[in-house]
Amino acid sequence: MKILVINGPNLNMLGIREKHLYGTRTYADLEAFIREKAAGLGMEAELFQSNYEGAIVEKIQAAYGVMDGIVINPAAYTHTSVAILDALKAVSLPAVEVHLTDISEREPFRRISYAGMACQARFAGLGFEGYAKALESLKETLSGD
Ligand code: DQA
Repeated sequence: MKILVINGPNLNMLGIREKHLYGTRTYADLEAFIREKAAGLGMEAELFQSNYEGAIVEKIQAAYGVMDGIVINPAAYTHTSVAILDALKAVSLPAVEVHLTDISEREPFRRISYAGMACQARFAGLGFEGYAKALESLKETLSGD
């Protein structure tokens, strides 16, 4: 099972940005957490972070026929990007949305998630653990459990 894990803009600033919301662990810590969890589940994870919407769209397109599923935290593009939604729909791979914070409890503009409309599940407000849950959810889906 090959899983593409996408993190959007400013998630490379974890550990520096708004620590009261996102914590003190860094993006490198998140990568290590995801790699360890994926290995434990017997999954292969490819990690990708970008601050550019088009790069994220192209990465999703490139997953077609190559990857088995997608975990995505589109960060701020969650709330604005129809292009990322359309890319997820285009490749039609099982996808799970993750947010470190609970976007339903923050500013009203964070309540809409376009990408989420193409995702089978959302884990929000669980910090790093949300990525673990997303991998577990994809494993279940892909192994037909
Ligand atoms: C985020 C929530 C978004 O609203 C925000 O723009 C982010 C991170 C999260 O992981 O909680 O950059 O996706």
